[in-house]
Amino acid sequence: MATVITIDGPSGGGKSTVSRMVAARLGYAYLDTGAMYRAVGLHARNRGTDLDDEAQVQEMLDSAELSLTPVDGDTRVLLCGEDVSEAIRSAEMGLVASRISALPLVRAKLTELQRQIGARGNVVAEGRDMGTVVFPDATGKFFLMASADERAHRRVEQLGEQGETISHAEILAQIEARDLADSTRALAPLKPASDAVMIDSTSMAVSEVVNFIVDQLAKK
Ligand code: DC
Repeated sequence: MATVITIDGPSGGGKSTVSRMVAARLGYAYLDTGAMYRAVGLHARNRGTDLDDEAQVQEMLDSAELSLTPVDGDTRVLLCGEDVSEAIRSAEMGLVASRISALPLVRAKLTELQRQIGARGNVVAEGRDMGTVVFPDATGKFFLMASADERAHRRVEQLGEQGETISHAEILAQIEARDLADSTRALAPLKPASDAVMIDSTSMAVSEVVNFIVDQLAKK
């Protein structure tokens, strides 16, 4: 049976770093599903797709060739052959991804792609609905959160490293808006699976979270 570990949670909770490190510790592949939503969002924006027009959304999806390649513990994202790994990381693309991720057609396409990747086994899948919708039978499920203030703090630092300067207040407002949109949408909302292990990382070091997850999996 394919072994899939799911790590869900709101944006900025440290999921990406933790998921990458857990995958490295286990020797598993890392599946960054947020990157998929971001890449589709970028594609729609490049094409000027009207997101209220289903036919246009379907055409956009049909022409979106996505490929995710693991490189040095990270994921390179190719959209129609072009490396968009950096372009999808801006705060703006996060908002575009959040908006597009509420569309049923988009979720159907990406859920199927994610399951294909998961079927290969030995995958750590990170996102919002990995444990609830995409991989309900996952071997181990975790839900990682942290206070909105701490997440904003981490995000400002991360964007700063990428050369993007943005105030704490602005990021906090974006995070709160995105949490609300992600958790109140009708389809696959952000919520813990009933059998997920909850982790509050507000005052935990990344290494502590990783060790905790690896220990929990070892007990299974
Ligand atoms: O994890 P992230 O910030 O890269 O995700 C970007 C957006 O994509 C997020 O606002 C919600 C959406 N998303 C989703 O709806 N389902 C997932 N499995 C992953 C991300």
